[in-house]
Amino acid sequence: MSNSNQYLASISRKVLTALAGLFLMTFLAVHLGINLLMLKSDNGITFSLVAKFMATNPLIKVIEIILFLCFFIHILLGIYITLKNWAARPVGYKVAQRSYTYFMSKYMIHTGVIIFIFLLLHLWHFYAIKIGVAPKNEVMKDTHDFYPLAIEYFQMPLFSVGYIIAFIFLGFHLSHALQSAFQTLGLNHDKYTPAVKMISTIYAIIITVGFSAIPIYFLFIYKG
Ligand code: HEM
Repeated sequence: MSNSNQYLASISRKVLTALAGLFLMTFLAVHLGINLLMLKSDNGITFSLVAKFMATNPLIKVIEIILFLCFFIHILLGIYITLKNWAARPVGYKVAQRSYTYFMSKYMIHTGVIIFIFLLLHLWHFYAIKIGVAPKNEVMKDTHDFYPLAIEYFQMPLFSVGYIIAFIFLGFHLSHALQSAFQTLGLNHDKYTPAVKMISTIYAIIITVGFSAIPIYFLFIYKG
């Protein structure tokens, strides 16, 4: 491959990773919005209604395929880009850089792999039941009845602690994600980049705190 073709391929891989990552960020916000309905004191009625709609609506099924594709593209290309960077720079940087941005960009692959392991467990605990690959838990009325299952899981301290730790790592990944995607897409600008960095941090905190609030609620506040 000529140098210019190699350059184009490398830019395309970065842009695809960024676009897939941005789609995943949108999905996470919607997912959090739905999960927070579990905190409504109506015994999970609203949450179950929305969860059933999400599980059965044909349009959502199409979006679900796009979602899996985005995960696949993001993870595969993220790993590929990192391995290529490592191979091109086997002795590391000569100049020590100490900024938070530099630190987080260096550890995107590490936080990413932890998220990936969590994702596999998460799919096994919830999604596998929905599609009938894993058996339905006895607390569930049907394969879409996730409210009692979530209570069952989140009242196990070890499960909840593991869940919160996974979201802390996701928070670190996300705190760098938006600004990195903007940079990849050529949208960085001296005037706006600080605002993008701040939005990235706020988004990461909302996702981590929001998802973590659910196990904390079922462990310490929920009375049945
Ligand atoms: C819901 C989960 C995830 C979201 C929302 C997300 C989002 C993002 C975003 C927006 C970026 C910035 C893209 C860019 O630099 O242009 C990024 C970078 C990255 N992500 Fe993720 N990500 C997620 C999960 C993962 C997973 C599971 C991995 C697995 C290995 C991963 C690996 C990476 C890597 C290596 C980078 C840096 C790529 C580069 O240097 O260009 N991510 N992520």
